[in-house]
Amino acid sequence: MKKILITGGAGFIGSHVVRRFVNKYPDYQVYNLDALTYAGNLENIKDIENNSNYNFIKGDIVDEIFVNELFSMHNFDGVLHLAAESHVDRSIEDPLAFVKTNVIGTMNLLNAVKSQWKNNFEGKRFYHISTDEVYGSLGSEGLFTETTPYDPNSPYSASKASSDHFVRAYGETYGLPYVLTNCSNNYGSYHFPEKLIPLFINNIINNKPLPVYGDGNYTRDWLFVEDHAAAIDLVFHEGKNHETYNIGGFNEWKNIDLVKLLCQIMDEKLGREEGTSKELITYVKDRPGHDLRYAIDASKINRELGWNPSVTFEEGLERTINWYLNNEEWLQNVTSGAYKDYYKKQYS
Ligand code: NAD
Ligand code: TYD
Repeated sequence: MKKILITGGAGFIGSHVVRRFVNKYPDYQVYNLDALTYAGNLENIKDIENNSNYNFIKGDIVDEIFVNELFSMHNFDGVLHLAAESHVDRSIEDPLAFVKTNVIGTMNLLNAVKSQWKNNFEGKRFYHISTDEVYGSLGSEGLFTETTPYDPNSPYSASKASSDHFVRAYGETYGLPYVLTNCSNNYGSYHFPEKLIPLFINNIINNKPLPVYGDGNYTRDWLFVEDHAAAIDLVFHEGKNHETYNIGGFNEWKNIDLVKLLCQIMDEKLGREEGTSKELITYVKDRPGHDLRYAIDASKINRELGWNPSVTFEEGLERTINWYLNNEEWLQNVTSGAYKDYYKKQYS
């Protein structure tokens, strides 16, 4: 029986990882540690909350005393660390919140595992989940590899880069057995509607403007969230200690082309005349420091661990849109209250 701590398991990607681990590994006790910020929602993991191998702990990784007490109560064999402040636009408004959770919070976890595991690292593993945004922006050519120098441009990516560096440093300095992955943009169910795809699906449903930043010619590499969860499972179990793996969808889209595709599919699904939702596209002021292009070379994880995305973009998008259309109550719940204030501030 292994004790596994997953941080941020009530968020978007974390909920898919928790679900996968709870269902696939009945001999693991899975502990989901989450502060339930605006982005964390227990509805995201309602289907597994009564499983006997699932445990929820509400707590803040920034709180050092709490983190140390938690580790003195439980001797975790593995930690999968996903808890983070994750939205670039929010990081521009409030960078310090990102330093607190993404840097200090990660440090608290690193110090806790270091003192709990002491020098007996046998069977132990710290897995830090990170983003491709730490590499900064690509021009129109090339791909991010594991050796691309870090060059973060937003407070979000700077805070994630900083946490990545600390994880590596703890590996080099104290011998901490870590693995680290840098993944491209995810999409799928339970995605909070502040990020491009769920925000635009929600706005199309509600006939609201679709705020495209700048000229819309920014490019992202999109990966279905369940494929990311599968990659995380694989790296946690079979990745090599002290290694980094890039994870991506081999699936680049210019924002404006993706938005037009979303409009087209949504018109069909909602029984609207073709071209109706496209009318909602509104070009708005650009994001400061907006990275032009992200694209991942995922050949290392493919070559060394045999991972490949299993879901095509057409299928993933179809499943995602269907999920939002069938889960309007979830959407309404997460967009009530504080979301309205955020939306007004960001887009007015
Ligand atoms: P999310 O914002 O949906 O969820 C973050 C979760 O962390 C929430 O449940 C929140 O309540 C929790 N949390 C935040 N601050 C906390 C704190 N101080 N203590 C405890 N819990 C806290 O994020 P996500 O999109 O699921 O991303 C998860 C991880 O994956 C992050 O580390 C992110 O950097 C990384 N990542 C995300 C993407 C993406 O496209 N979303 C891509 C690559 C990597
Ligand atoms: P986002 O989903 O915030 O992810 P990230 O910035 O981490 O890549 O944004 C994806 C792309 O969509 C990015 O180029 C910014 C753009 N975007 C808009 O054009 N309008 C919006 O309202 C949002 C949220 C994003």
